[in-house]
Amino acid sequence: MEIDQQLPKDIPTHVAIIMDGNGRWAESRGLPRLMGHRAGTENLRTIIRACGEFGVKYLKLYAFSTENWGRPEDEVKGLMKIFDDVFERELAELIDQGANLKYIGRKDGVSEKMQAQIKHGEEITKDNDKLFLNVAFNYGGRDEIVYAIQRLIEDGVKAEDVSEEMVSDYMFTSGIPDPDLVIRTSGEKRLSNFLTWQTVYSEWYFPDVYWPDFNKDELLKALHEYSNRKRRFGKI
Ligand code: IPE
Ligand code: IPE
Ligand code: MG
Repeated sequence: MEIDQQLPKDIPTHVAIIMDGNGRWAESRGLPRLMGHRAGTENLRTIIRACGEFGVKYLKLYAFSTENWGRPEDEVKGLMKIFDDVFERELAELIDQGANLKYIGRKDGVSEKMQAQIKHGEEITKDNDKLFLNVAFNYGGRDEIVYAIQRLIEDGVKAEDVSEEMVSDYMFTSGIPDPDLVIRTSGEKRLSNFLTWQTVYSEWYFPDVYWPDFNKDELLKALHEYSNRKRRFGKI
């Protein structure tokens, strides 16, 4: 298909991506799954840059779910090593691009080294405002709701004071607008415990390509599709 290289008029403020299909990308080439995860991380720089260029303000990336701990030990270990390398390698580039980094998920469930890296990354980019980059790691949509309820109770909030705005403020994503567009690569069409609370009115887009093949042109296609959607939010 010919891709319209022009930017559509209506650019989503917030794009969230379920980066799926690394394993199948590798298997289809006769490679070990971890090679697919490596290839997937190569793609991050391209997509982060393209979002900055296209005027997307918030980019949320689903990198590791609360259920992904259930994969074989070797794969989980390999993934942790890859994330560690990516963090080291990409931080300077993120600073350079004016990205503001935020971790979304249960920090206490990851290694101390990773916690320190996240803290450093968030601290050093905190004044940047060109692109708000949220990384969902050890993240589960249901876990996030449990986390919010726990903190509401801890804070002694009265039942009658609980509102949708307040619940939103107790999420990991407090202060961040809901995603306008959610992209899930690899042809799978499900939420897999991504932003349960935040995606009630998001537009969905499901390209067939595996995540390592989701390039700038694919992103542009997604933006064009989004700009042709009619969002109604329950109204007419
Ligand atoms: C997504 O790719 C990356 C993570 C979940 C960490 P997968 O590893 O799920 O790839 P497939 O779905 O098995 O192809
Ligand atoms: C969702 O993909 C999680 C991430 C991409 C990080 P999965 O591959 O884990 O989801 P399922 O198991 O196919 O639903
Ligand atoms: Mg998958």
